[in-house]
Amino acid sequence: MTKKDVKTNLLNHSEAKVRLLGEYLKRYLNIICNDGYTKRIKIYDLFCGEGLYENGGEGSPLVTMRQIKDIHFVNVAKASGIPKIDCHFNDIEESKVKRVEQSLKDKSLYYPEFGDLHFSTEDYQLQYENLLSQLPKLKSLNQKAFIFIDPYEYKHIKASQIKNLMSKGSSEVLLWLPTQFMYRFANNGTPEALKDFITEIIPNFSEWRPGNVWSFISELKQGFQDFLGNNFFVDTFTIQKDTNTVFCLFFFTSHIKGFEKMLEAKWEIDTEYGKGWDYGGNTPSLFHEHKTNPLETKLKDFLKSKKRYNGEVYEFTLRQGFLPKHTNEIFYNWQNNGDLEVLTANGEKARKKSFYIAYNYFKTDNKKVTFNLK
Ligand SMILES: C[S@@+](CC[C@H](N)C(=O)[O-])C[C@H]1O[C@@H](n2cnc3c(N)ncnc32)[C@H](O)[C@@H]1O
Repeated sequence: MTKKDVKTNLLNHSEAKVRLLGEYLKRYLNIICNDGYTKRIKIYDLFCGEGLYENGGEGSPLVTMRQIKDIHFVNVAKASGIPKIDCHFNDIEESKVKRVEQSLKDKSLYYPEFGDLHFSTEDYQLQYENLLSQLPKLKSLNQKAFIFIDPYEYKHIKASQIKNLMSKGSSEVLLWLPTQFMYRFANNGTPEALKDFITEIIPNFSEWRPGNVWSFISELKQGFQDFLGNNFFVDTFTIQKDTNTVFCLFFFTSHIKGFEKMLEAKWEIDTEYGKGWDYGGNTPSLFHEHKTNPLETKLKDFLKSKKRYNGEVYEFTLRQGFLPKHTNEIFYNWQNNGDLEVLTANGEKARKKSFYIAYNYFKTDNKKVTFNLK
């Protein structure tokens, strides 16, 4: 594979990346467009690339506009109004941005009634500073921002920039990092730019020795979480290009519902790629090899440490990167085996199979039941 191929064709791992972007945007736009509150949505693609690749593959600008077009026409068909969705596509190479503009026209993916469309050919750093000054205004106008940051290299990015973008409120960030290269360099002759990037989130970097790229990613995620604090949610989506190459998307939000939507998108794609949810429960079977399920282990520790309410279990599940349906499955299995007791506020046993682990209960009735693990 030559370098040219990588840059002019959309390869499988990049396809998985833009799939996640598309699946997430579909869910995100669906919620935000119907929340009855948001007046305008602003999508910023700061390293937008060329849109249409030589092999016909569609990059982030086309994937994004397709989702906007879909949601627009679904809502027009239902005769319900939706907020305007503005898009801003930026890339330092002018020829690429021109190509994006042309392919959006050729494929009829943009109509002015969707919202405004902007193009620019600035360096990321300038775009970032410009965004920082715009974001605070969005909140008071009931507007929301989604920012996609997809560089070739980590040298453009700083964790504190992500923190600044997030702390201006109402924004979500999806960041692509070439984790494989970062991991290789982190263990061996670390370049200054990488040292600067990692030291911000892993303060004891000089003693840090992750054993492989997977633990590198999970510790980076924890580092981001600690750096951003508990008001933010962080998740990762790993894409394995081949046995030796793993890339990773990092997702950041301050909104738990948006976080759940991103996890849904991720699980859907993982299932398609054959690495979805696998829980055999505790029933011994000749055919199902008993494996330790990572969520089951985490839930056990979480419930054993103190009394936990349904709202806490909902948040805990998401923060571990899993969905409420996964926890429900584990709880149901424990309940069937007589290991789990679920009690209502007045100490009565809750109905079987009722765990109340969902966003609506989290918002309105987060202390409806407690769990007692024997
Ligand atoms: C990984 S590609 C983007 C791919 C695109 N998001 C897609 O889905 O097809 C990274 C892009 O960043 C652009 N770029 C490189 N340095 C930049 C900078 N300092 N500021 C803005 N864009 C830059 C490159 O021209 C390249 O198109």
